[in-house]
This record gives sequence, C-alpha cells and structure tokens, in this order.
Amino acid sequence: MKLFVINGPNLNMLGIREPGIYGAQNYESLMQLIGDVCTREGIEVQCFQSNHEGEIVDIIQSAYGKADGIVINPAAYTHTSVAILDALKAVALPAVEVHLSDISVRESFRQFSYPALACVKQIAGLGFEGYEKAVLFLKEYIPSLVK
Ligand code: DQA
Repeated sequence: MKLFVINGPNLNMLGIREPGIYGAQNYESLMQLIGDVCTREGIEVQCFQSNHEGEIVDIIQSAYGKADGIVINPAAYTHTSVAILDALKAVALPAVEVHLSDISVRESFRQFSYPALACVKQIAGLGFEGYEKAVLFLKEYIPSLVK
C-alpha cells in the first residue's frame, strides 16, 4: 500500500508559525513521525509540501496510478480551492483531510472546506496525531489494496 501525504502553504513554517495554534514542533518532526508510523504499519509513503495551489493540483494528479490513498492538509487552500477539490475528485482516490487545529471552532472563514467534499474523512484538532490517525484510517479503509 502506498500513500501520498500532501501539505499545503505555510506548513513548512511549523514550529515558527503561531506555535500557540500549530505547536512547537517543526515540519521535519512531522515528516519523521509520518515516516515512523508508515514504516511500523508496512506502508510506503511519499510526502510533499507546497505553497502553490497549482503545484498541489499537480501532486494530486500525479498520485493517480501511483498511490492507493491520500492524506492531505490543504492549509489555507482548504477554504478557497475548488481546484484542489476537483483534482481529488478527478483521481478518485480515498483521501483523508487533516488539520492540526480544530477549524470548526476558529474564524468563520475556516469553517468550510472545499476538499472535504471529496474526502472520506476529516480529522481536525489533534495536532500531529491527526496524521497518524489518517494513515491508520486509510490502512483499514483500503485493506484490499494493501500490498
Ligand atoms: C490548517 C488550518 C487552516 O485554516 C490554516 O489556513 C492552515 C493550517 C491546520 O492544519 O490547522 O494553514 O490547515
């Protein structure tokens, strides 16, 4: 089983960026955690981060035929991007949307997600643990694809 983990804009600034909301750990620590979880679970993983909407669309498209599922934190594009929603619909892979913070209790503009309309699950407010839960969810969700 192979997963793509895709992180959107400003997530490369973790640890520096608003630590009261997003925590003190940096992006490399997040990559370490995801790598450790996937190794433990026997899952192949490829991680991406981009600050550019079109590049995120390209990455999602490139998952077609290569990945069995997608974990995505579209960051600010969550609340604006029909293009990311359409890309997820186009590849039609099981996708889980993750947010470090609980977007449901933040500013009203963060409470709607376009990509969630194409995701099988949304996990928000659990910090880094949300990514682990997303990987474990997809491992259960697509067992017939486990190789
Ligand atoms: C975020 C929540 C978004 O509203 C915000 O724009 C982000 C991070 C999160 O992980 O909590 O950049 O996706």
